Amino acid sequence: MKTEIRPGIYWVGAIDWDLRDFHGYTTPKGSTYNAYLIVDEKVALVDTVKEPFKDELLARISEIVDPEKIDYLIVNHLERDHFGSFAGVMEVAKNAQVYSGTMGRKGIVDVYGERWPVTAVKTGSTLSLGKKTLRFIETPMMHWPDSMMTYVEEDKVLLSSDAFGQHVASSERFDRDASFDPVAEAKTYYANILMPFSHLIQSLLSKVPELNLQPEIIAPDHGVIWTDPGKIIEAYGRWSRFEARPRVVIAYDTMWGSTEKMAHLLAEGVMDEGGVEVKFFNIRKSTNSEIISEIQDAKAVLLGSATLNNGIFPPVGGFLYYLKGLRPQNKIAMGFGSFGWMGGAVKEITARLKETDMEVLDGLEIRYPATKAQVEQCRETGRMIARKVKGGQ
Ligand SMILES: Cc1cc2nc3c(=O)[nH]c(=O)nc-3n(C[C@H](O)[C@H](O)[C@H](O)COP(=O)(O)O)c2cc1C
Ligand SMILES: [Fe+2]
Ligand SMILES: [Fe+2]
Repeated sequence: MKTEIRPGIYWVGAIDWDLRDFHGYTTPKGSTYNAYLIVDEKVALVDTVKEPFKDELLARISEIVDPEKIDYLIVNHLERDHFGSFAGVMEVAKNAQVYSGTMGRKGIVDVYGERWPVTAVKTGSTLSLGKKTLRFIETPMMHWPDSMMTYVEEDKVLLSSDAFGQHVASSERFDRDASFDPVAEAKTYYANILMPFSHLIQSLLSKVPELNLQPEIIAPDHGVIWTDPGKIIEAYGRWSRFEARPRVVIAYDTMWGSTEKMAHLLAEGVMDEGGVEVKFFNIRKSTNSEIISEIQDAKAVLLGSATLNNGIFPPVGGFLYYLKGLRPQNKIAMGFGSFGWMGGAVKEITARLKETDMEVLDGLEIRYPATKAQVEQCRETGRMIARKVKGGQ
């Protein structure tokens, strides 16, 4: 079945129904690798797919034109989920000329030398296909040095590469038909992939008028295509500004249950105050990606760990490392946990949290299981955090 987005612009990607892990990001719903074919006097293919899906891509293209007739292959991004089939496609599309950004060209030449000529484009460069014009926008470090977007001027279609994507495999290609909430899925994607580049997204969003972009359709490289782009642009604005809800995320791990008990007491304390959501995760029983998605727009993060061998319990250490790399902002953070003798986990969590831009509170440490007085201390700490989240002290 052909999927035409606008006259002459087709989705020709692949659906990865079985994908459950995308470089560590848990993808319970699979994903798609979207590629786009633009048929005019000249034929352009924008992006390819993960290598094992090359034949699926070529079959979809063949329903529309003979792949040998592709004149231009536009490489928006060199990550293997979009570039993996590049060489395979070039072997079929024998006469295709390759266009990519400055860093994209360099990356292609590093791998393939001068086997295929590659033209480097910059923001504002255009390529005429006849009636349609492609305009390129380099978006370095959003999220790789080579990242760029391609805008089909006359149709107002923005082929946005990874930005605005969602990891969901579905039979539906458009937001309006989606059998899932595409904004919620886009949030998980944003939180796990794009959060560290929020300042660049802010800067791109502010430059939309100067770049003269008026996208009526945003077609990302994963998930459904946005026919109502206002909705996802508004959400990207909120996420990149780190707008937060009155929500406390409690994520912890435990060996013998004492840290877990503290986590429950903190949650009870937050709930005592009312008006603040609690999201509660045992790190080993949850996925990093789902926890991060809740943290994206939460006002506070409480990270708990038992002390093991003078330090952090490794599952919590792994999560903390992941969180820190995503460079969260505009949040209150606190470490907590149980220890037996010298402790170490909470001190270490607090030190690492202080390396982020979050406001870090003094950690809460308890020897073995909480005593009666400490039970109240944990609960009161939860109440104090809820009050802070609501804006009081
Ligand atoms: C294998 C192991 C190693 C531990 N290492 C330390 C340690 O180096 N320093 C410390 O203060 N407590 C250490 N403890 C004690 C635990 O931190 C203590 O039992 C704590 O109450 C466990 O919290 P939990 O019930 O949340 O697992 C260790 C416990 C175990 C089982
Ligand atoms: Fe990517
Ligand atoms: Fe991707």
